[in-house]
Amino acid sequence: MTKISPSILAADFSKLGEDIASVENAGADLLHIDVMDGIFVPNISFGMPVISSIRKNTGMFFDVHLMISEPIRYLDEFKKAGADLITVHVEACKDPEKTLRAIRELGLKSGISIKPCTPVSEIRALLPLCDLVLVMSVEPGFGGQKFMPIALDKISELDALRKELALSYEIEVDGGINEETAKACTIAGADILVAGSSVFRSDDRKAAIDALR
Ligand code: DX5
Ligand code: ZN
Repeated sequence: MTKISPSILAADFSKLGEDIASVENAGADLLHIDVMDGIFVPNISFGMPVISSIRKNTGMFFDVHLMISEPIRYLDEFKKAGADLITVHVEACKDPEKTLRAIRELGLKSGISIKPCTPVSEIRALLPLCDLVLVMSVEPGFGGQKFMPIALDKISELDALRKELALSYEIEVDGGINEETAKACTIAGADILVAGSSVFRSDDRKAAIDALR
C-alpha cells in the first residue's frame, strides 16, 4: 500500500506536537520534515532544535528533506536531532556520492532528490547508494504549489530503472499532492507520497490520508 508522509511545513507551529499526534493517529506512515536554508531555496524553515523537540514526543519515522547547500556539513547533527532518513538534493552537493555514503555510515537511510528540471540521468550512477529517491513535483521552497506533471515521467523512469538494475530504493514524490495527483503518482510507480496542505489543511486528517491512499 502507498505510504503517506505528511509535511509539517503546513502544520500550525504554535501547536506542532498536537498536529503531529493527529497525523500519527490518522495512520501516517512517516513524518516529512522540510529543512530550508535560504540559499539552496529562497525560503527558511527550521532546523535541529525543532527536530530534537518533536523527537521527544513521537516515535514516528523522521523523513528529513534537506533543502540546504552542502548538507554533508550537518549530517551528524541531523542524526543527533533524530532523523531516520536524510534526503539531500543532488543539485546542492559538491560530492553527492560522498554525501550519500556519509549518511549510510551514520546508520541512517539515504535519499537523493531531484528538482523538476533535473533529469533522472543525473542520479543514475548514485542509485545503488540510495534507499530512497525523492522526485520533486514543484520547485522546492514552498508548500501549496501546483503539481508539475513532468514528475510522472521521472517516477516511471525510476520504477523501470530499479527493475532493470535490480535495486530496491523507494520512490517518493513531493509537492502539490492531492487526491487526483496522488492517484497518477501511484500508477506511475511512487511508493511514498508527501502531502503538506492536503493533510494539514483538512479538518479530518484520517479522511485526507485515506483519500490519498
Ligand atoms: C516544498 C517541500 C514540500 C512541501 C509540500 O519545498 O519540500 O514538502 O511542504 O507541500 P504541499 O503538499 O502543500 O505541496
Ligand atoms: Zn519536502
